[in-house]
Amino acid sequence: MSNWHNESGRPLASDAWLEVHHRAKLPERTAFARQIAQRKPNRVVDLGCGPGLWMDLLADALPPDAELVGIDSDPNTLTKASARARQWRQASAFENIDFDEEAGAIPEADIFLAFNIFPYVSDPAKLLEQLRAKLRPGGCVVVRQYDGALIRLGPMTESDRRIIDTSLMTAVLGSEQFKHYDMDRVFECVQASRYASKTTDFEIFRRVAPFSLEFREYFLKTIEWTHTYISEDAQRRLRRWLDSRSDDTDNTTSSYVVEVDLISWLS
Ligand SMILES: C[S@@+](CC[C@H](N)C(=O)[O-])C[C@H]1O[C@@H](n2cnc3c(N)ncnc32)[C@H](O)[C@@H]1O
Repeated sequence: MSNWHNESGRPLASDAWLEVHHRAKLPERTAFARQIAQRKPNRVVDLGCGPGLWMDLLADALPPDAELVGIDSDPNTLTKASARARQWRQASAFENIDFDEEAGAIPEADIFLAFNIFPYVSDPAKLLEQLRAKLRPGGCVVVRQYDGALIRLGPMTESDRRIIDTSLMTAVLGSEQFKHYDMDRVFECVQASRYASKTTDFEIFRRVAPFSLEFREYFLKTIEWTHTYISEDAQRRLRRWLDSRSDDTDNTTSSYVVEVDLISWLS
């Protein structure tokens, strides 16, 4: 089974995984891209742009004279992003920069997107400060951050949930590659940052069965990913739970998914 590593070895960052995730959340993501476009940025820099999925939505929402720049440490994903950019009306550029080690090379921007990148960053406070110095007047850093503890599938018995969640947390907490439970670290760095204006909120994402095909794919892949990390007992419980939900395509049983993302606007 896949751990959804990208070709540079970063977990939960493969193009395939990012695309499944993107399709499942497309209506919410489209609305958020439009909200960003309302700030009328000239240049948007997407940090950890991956294959350019968010940039694609911004290309739809922004006028042709805007400029889109994607930054990523993975050259293969940048090749995919730049292929996607051939469809855009705006000028675009893609730069292979490791923002953890060479933040000085990040170009200035009216808007920086920092979407689900902090789990891979050793010092988020330092990166936020480096971005502040690169913001054009009136510009803004937009942060989105998921947290593994705020992804809830249900309904599930208390004991199944406790055993599955604890098993996953125990397995993943030791990872030196990324932080799956990073929201509090990000929240603290955002609140302690030196931006003059800081607005933080939480966005709730939810789906109730019957799921669309796009969402079902994400739902099953999330379960598959969890299954690779957890104990045998937790795996057995998760499989039994999924079997009990397997009629969700025709609405004969009912399940739900709720997730919470931190959203911050820093200017
Ligand atoms: C979880 S993906 C998020 C992709 C996209 N921002 C989104 O929300 O869909 C993280 C992305 O950040 C990139 N990345 C991780 N650490 C990085 C670093 N230190 N410098 C540059 N890119 C990095 C990965 O290669 C990957 O494309």
